[in-house]
This record gives sequence, C-alpha cells and structure tokens, in this order.
Amino acid sequence: MKTATYDLVVIGGGPGGYPAAIRAAQLGLSVGCIERESALGGTCVRVGCIPSKALLESSERFVETRDELSAHGIRVENVSVDIAKMLARKTQIVESNTKGVDFLFKKNKIKRYRGSGKLLSSTKVLCEGEDNIEIEAKNILIATGSTVAMLPGVELDYQNVVTSTEALSFDQVPQHLVVIGAGYIGLELGSVWRRLGAKVTVLEYLDRILPGMDFETATEAHKLFQKQGLEFKLNTKVLAARSDGDGAVVEIEGGEAIRADKVLLAVGRAPNTQGLNIEALGVQVDERGRIKVDDGFATNVPGVFAIGDVIAGPMLAHKATEEGIACVEKLVTGYGHVNYNTIPGIVYTAPEIATVGQTEDALKATPTAYRKGVFPFSASGRARCMGHTDGRVKILADAITDRILGVHIIGPRAGDLIAEAVAAMEFGASSEDLARTCHAHPTLSEAIHEAALAVDGRAIHI
Ligand code: NAI
Repeated sequence: MKTATYDLVVIGGGPGGYPAAIRAAQLGLSVGCIERESALGGTCVRVGCIPSKALLESSERFVETRDELSAHGIRVENVSVDIAKMLARKTQIVESNTKGVDFLFKKNKIKRYRGSGKLLSSTKVLCEGEDNIEIEAKNILIATGSTVAMLPGVELDYQNVVTSTEALSFDQVPQHLVVIGAGYIGLELGSVWRRLGAKVTVLEYLDRILPGMDFETATEAHKLFQKQGLEFKLNTKVLAARSDGDGAVVEIEGGEAIRADKVLLAVGRAPNTQGLNIEALGVQVDERGRIKVDDGFATNVPGVFAIGDVIAGPMLAHKATEEGIACVEKLVTGYGHVNYNTIPGIVYTAPEIATVGQTEDALKATPTAYRKGVFPFSASGRARCMGHTDGRVKILADAITDRILGVHIIGPRAGDLIAEAVAAMEFGASSEDLARTCHAHPTLSEAIHEAALAVDGRAIHI
C-alpha cells in the first residue's frame, strides 16, 4: 500500500472542502484532498447550484423571448427550444467550473486523490478507489456534504422517479412533472420545466411553501408562482411514489393518486457520513446524524474537523465555504469565525427570493420590538424599465437601537441585491445607515434605500 503524509487531508472536494484546501495551502500547510467523483466541485458545481442556474438562465431567456420581448417592440417569431443544446451548454459550463477547481489545486500545489476516504485513526485516512493510498495527516477535515433525503414509500428508479441530479438532464420536456417538496430545489427545478412547457404540480406537506423563510415574502412568492402556472397542493402527505409503465404514480393521503411522466423528490438532504468509519473512532453525531463540532469546527476527536452539510446549519454552498475557510484559519492562526446571523439564502426563481437575518415571524415570537420598512419594485423606475416590477424589499430593524435584524427581498436580481444588506448587517449597521447611504439612480438598489427610509416612515417614492 502506498503512503503519503500531509499537514491536512480534506475529505470532499465540494464548495466546503476545496476552498478550505486552497486556504490551508495559502497558509503554508501541505494539503491532500480525497474526492470520489471524477470531477472536483461537489454537488454544487457538478449537479447542484451551477447546472441548475445554467438551466434557470436558459429557460428564463426562452420565456422572456417568447412572452416579453414584444412589449419592447421587438418581434421574434416561432420561438422554440432545443433541449439537447440547452443541456450541452449546461454541461459545458459545469466542465469549465470543475476544470477551474483542478487548475486552482495545481496552482496551490494541492494533491488530489480519487477515491472514498475512510478514517483509520485520528491521523490516518485510507483512500479507496482509483487511487489506493494510506494518508497520514496531522489534521483531517471532513467535508463530505449531503445526499438526497429519502421519503418512506417513494421508490426512486432514477428514470421516472428521480432526484435533482436526474431532473437536471431530462432529455425532453415532461408533459407532467410532479415535485414532492416546495423548497429550494422543488421551486427552482419546477420553474425550469414549467417554463419549458411542462405541467408542474408541487406537493407540499406543510400549509405553506418555503418553510423557514419569511412568511409574508413566501406568500407573495406563492402567488407569483401560481400566476406562472405552477400548481401547488399544500397540506399534502405523499404516501408512495413509484415508476409505472412510461411514467410514475404518486399516492397521497385522502386524495386520488396522481399520474405523471416524472416525479422529482425534493424534501431536503441528509448528511453524507456513510463509509467514513467515524463510528469506530467515536466521532459524535447529533440526533439527525450530523457531526457535532465546536465553534472551531473540531469534533470530539482531536485533530478531526468537520464543516458544511455534514454539520448543523443551513445546507448552503456559501455557508460551507465560510466554514471551511474559518476552520483552517483557526487551525493555523488561532482565529477564524463564521457569523451565522448574516448568511444569505437565495431561491433563484423569477423573481428571485433573497433573505438574510431574522424573519418577521421569528421576531414576532420574541419580545424584541421592531420597525418595518417596505418598498415595492412597482415603484422603482429601473424595475419598470426592465419590465420586472413584481416583488418588494422588506427591512426589519430593532425599534430601539435601529440595528438591522433582517432583510427579505423578492424581486428582480434579489440574489445580488441582498449582498448590500449582508454587508450592512456584518458591520452592525442601522436602517438609518442604509438610509443615509447614497444609492445610484436608476438602479434596483434604490429599492433597498427606499425600504430603509420607510423604516422611519420617510420613503420618497411611495
Ligand atoms: P428544502 O428543505 O429546501 O425543502 C424541502 C421541502 O419539502 C420543504 O418545503 C418541506 O416542508 C417539504 N417536505 C418535507 N417532507 C415532505 C413530505 N413528506 N411531503 C411533501 N413535502 C415535504 O429541501 P430541498 O428543496 O430538497 O433542497 C435541499 C437542500 O439544498 C436545501 O437545504 C437547500 O438549502 C439546498 N439548496 C439550495 C439552493 C440555493 O441555495 N438556491 C438550491 C437548491 C438546493
């Protein structure tokens, strides 16, 4: 058996693991990274964030060209979709991103190993697969991410009853797609296939979509998605789903079974800890199987660390990245920190939904008195020029200190606009700070400015 020695071995080359490896190398550590998939980049780059955004972009442009350009006085006739080309473009984007990570590894002299990592001790990891090697390391970072959460009764066949991975590559538009779960994946991929012509039915167990997000914002989103033709069945318990002939059938409690061409299971994700052998080492996990860590991402076993989707917190790529970097910085310099109050969440539908900090519902449940400023995009000159006037910005600030507690945006480019709110909150800004900040005209960011003014009842354009 071959052997190698490093200061740090990272298990997992996704958005948690690969930036951690790069930062560790920048800080002078020798670093090896074990990844079992052929490409680096993890779920996010290969079968998550990046390919879904490629398809969201393409499908949105299709709808815009077909339905919206005529309002601009632009005539386009016979608009149609070439699915094969759309998918090929997506694949090419994924490849350029994964190759980018390869390049960064080479640049930072990080050795990549192909195979599955298995902990033999707190200083030894076995890589099993294309590369078979025993790696000795002073520190081990587990960044193995997550995998699709199963639902009892739902029999995935990866053809007709599928996960998000397969739903990124349907080679034709399904006539009827049933989505189980009105969360991030259900709404994004449901939107893609709806735009391309599928009938889409979203089944949600709860009485609302996007649980955990600001209720008022999610309710507005729900109405807009319904207008786009997405059909929602809330309070719906799925009992079973299986492939059936050319399509699939979904059984729901108290209702008739639903037939569809494709069924997408999107009820969340579960931490990927299988095969790591952490039980043998006594690494503690919580009741949901997530690895327990302290504020420096250390597990209870000295020298073994964990970040990203395998630990608690929102399962978001950028959260994993922040944690990976903070973890290695703390290891090397003694300092490293993640501010969990300022992690944005974005749903890349049209319009986008972006949120940071506390929801209004959560604030209502606390004794904190708050003030609220709202500004609709229908009153934004720039949004009118774009023809995208749905949605609004909502800012919640402490009634006594005026510190910004939460910002919730639904509207055009909400995912980019939220960055200003995140930065403001990171600096502990008040709503007055945002209100006193000059925002360029005419930009969408003026809606944030106006919402901040509205906290004090002095918005100008509403
Ligand atoms: P999710 O947690 O966002 O949503 C799951 C939905 O399924 C929830 O609405 C939940 O109430 C519902 N659900 C749960 N059990 C159900 C049942 N038995 N029947 C019907 N509905 C049920 O999970 P999702 O959409 O699968 O995404 C997985 C993870 O990936 C999320 O944690 C999300 O943060 C992440 N993600 C992030 C994206 C982004 O940042 N834009 C895009 C896609 C995924």
